[in-house]
Amino acid sequence: KAGVVTIPIVVHVLYSTTAMNISDAQIASQIKVLNDDFRKLNADFSTVVPFVFQGVAADMELAFCLATKKPDGSATSGVERKSVTSNFNFDDNYYTSSGLPSWDTTKYLNIWVGNISADYLGWAYLPDNAGGTDDGLAIGYKYFGTTGTVVSPYNKGRTATHEIGHYFGLNHIWGDEENSCGTSAGNDGCADTPATKEPYYGAPTFPTNLYACTTSTNGSMFMNYMDYVNDNKMAMFTNNQKTITQNTMAGPRASLLN
Ligand code: ARG
Ligand code: ZN
Ligand code: CA
Repeated sequence: KAGVVTIPIVVHVLYSTTAMNISDAQIASQIKVLNDDFRKLNADFSTVVPFVFQGVAADMELAFCLATKKPDGSATSGVERKSVTSNFNFDDNYYTSSGLPSWDTTKYLNIWVGNISADYLGWAYLPDNAGGTDDGLAIGYKYFGTTGTVVSPYNKGRTATHEIGHYFGLNHIWGDEENSCGTSAGNDGCADTPATKEPYYGAPTFPTNLYACTTSTNGSMFMNYMDYVNDNKMAMFTNNQKTITQNTMAGPRASLLN
């Protein structure tokens, strides 16, 4: 399918304090980040992405909106909210009847926001889970959007950008397995993201070959959304990543456009 396509999102907010009941403005700030990042319209692109990598950066041609219709056809804001007890186990139960069950995951990108355990910023299901009742993203309320309850250095909405990368089939730059340079498990299937053996964190200085599989002049593309650097240090997807995403949209996630 050619051109920009728009993915309908439903945000399920599970809160046990008033602060955790994030505002509509905070949710809107996340949707804006997605619409910037997946169209290469992010304002930090030219400052965060070194010139030598700008040429392989992609406009992913994906847009996002809050759903305007529920599965039954009635009107919605695309956001639903539920109060849960302070001992609610978000990680295990967010999509169950004690949390907020998904809306048809073949038609909506479901995003749950709540009190995720300290081990995570968020997670996502890969395209092989398309149609599953738990399919979609789970994101901590401190890492969703750019205003309200967000906490630095994960306050630029890039956790959802990264997780939606996974949702459309993208892997981390270093692949499924760390320290596996030269094996299929040790890379992301993208020739235009230089191979690395493990994640970069924080705020690396360009150029670096610290975790590169092979030393090169430009070094690692740590500023790719599919690495682990701080939100204000990641600012690009590549053309090869776009190809994977488009194959997913033409395949396992095609029903999102119906
Ligand atoms: N650790 C998470 C994952 O592997 C997300 C990391 C996102 N990084 C960020 N700067 N927001 O899916
Ligand atoms: Zn990830
Ligand atoms: Ca690669």
